Amino acid sequence: MDYDFDTPLPLRGRHVSKFDNIAKVYGTDDPEVIPMWVADMDFAAAPAITAALQAEVDLGFAGYFGNPEPVSAAVADWYAARHGWSLDPAWVRYTHGVVSAYGDVIAGCSEPGDGVIVFSPVYHAFFRQIEAMGRVVVESPLVLSGGRFEMDLEALEASLTGKERIVTFCSPHNPGGRIWEPSEIKALADFCARHDLTLISDEIHMDLTFPGVGFTPTAVAAPEHLDRLVVITAASKGFNIAGAETGLLIAPDAGLRAVLDRVILDRESSPNRYGMAMLRAAFGESGDWSEAVRGYIAENYRIFAERINGLPGVSVMEMQATYLAWVDFNGLGMSDKDLLDRVIGAKVAPNPGTQFGAGGSGHLRFNLALPRPSLMKAIAQLEAAFTDIQ
Ligand SMILES: Cc1ncc(COP(=O)(O)O)c(C=O)c1O
Repeated sequence: MDYDFDTPLPLRGRHVSKFDNIAKVYGTDDPEVIPMWVADMDFAAAPAITAALQAEVDLGFAGYFGNPEPVSAAVADWYAARHGWSLDPAWVRYTHGVVSAYGDVIAGCSEPGDGVIVFSPVYHAFFRQIEAMGRVVVESPLVLSGGRFEMDLEALEASLTGKERIVTFCSPHNPGGRIWEPSEIKALADFCARHDLTLISDEIHMDLTFPGVGFTPTAVAAPEHLDRLVVITAASKGFNIAGAETGLLIAPDAGLRAVLDRVILDRESSPNRYGMAMLRAAFGESGDWSEAVRGYIAENYRIFAERINGLPGVSVMEMQATYLAWVDFNGLGMSDKDLLDRVIGAKVAPNPGTQFGAGGSGHLRFNLALPRPSLMKAIAQLEAAFTDIQ
């Protein structure tokens, strides 16, 4: 089936964070600004998802959700078919988003004052969540090797204080879209075992690999360490249903599951029934849409990288997955403020790199999941904004 990703949806003024929060965040209410920040797509969800939501609306019942087992079966089928992990549906729990799942694992597996490791630059909400829960952010800076991020486990090992309890692993990585090699994942899991750390694998971007690129779940790369692994993931990024606020928490180990069940029970919350309907339709019925959107995003990336890499002193990190391009402007020698001001002045709104922790300075993150005509316009505006340095 053909899908139209080129025609823009009328998103302004429809409670769309990426469009309707620009004024609050960037201080401009210019309706011409092209939003390339919040990590969702400007595209309509797959038809099966909209139909599933419509069926719920037609039922007219908006009460509590029960019997998640068929949804968990769809989750297990998707992971097995797409990513080669045969998980038991009984390991799956539901949360109100992946950050919420992250908080549940921190609550269950650490105490206030404990250290939670992150490999930065990385998704900014991790920092906020760790701090909000009274834990301590332990940043392990990623190192650049051959233009790609790598973890420096030796340096991390040398810096451990004994207060660390959890490692946060973002796979595929946001920002930059790196797919980790199975050997790197295994080395990280071995590291966690050596230091008795819980390993949280955030796989929310797993369904956004570029065509022909495979993704290895942490459970597949390190099956001997399932006893300390908690996977947090969702259909929200891959299928563009982040507004459903439905996350998955998958804990293969019964003891760990009991700990996390306690946290979830204490919260007294049940899954969002609309989110569950969308999740099931995503994993169960929307595989061809996923293929189509990944192809479209990969082409957006190809065009973006070719043109933006043409700007002297600017380089786009090579991506294998996600739609979140990580662009290094350090060659221009501008301050972070001047850089962002110039880009906003060009009517393009990316995320400032400083949001992502150590290593973020001098960078901007651009969301490439937008209609091609809008992308072309944004690229032309960026090129024009930097003509004086060409
Ligand atoms: C790595 C990562 N985890 C979690 C999230 C957010 O998940 P949720 O909206 O389900 O809380 C994002 C969003 O960009 C992300 O990139």
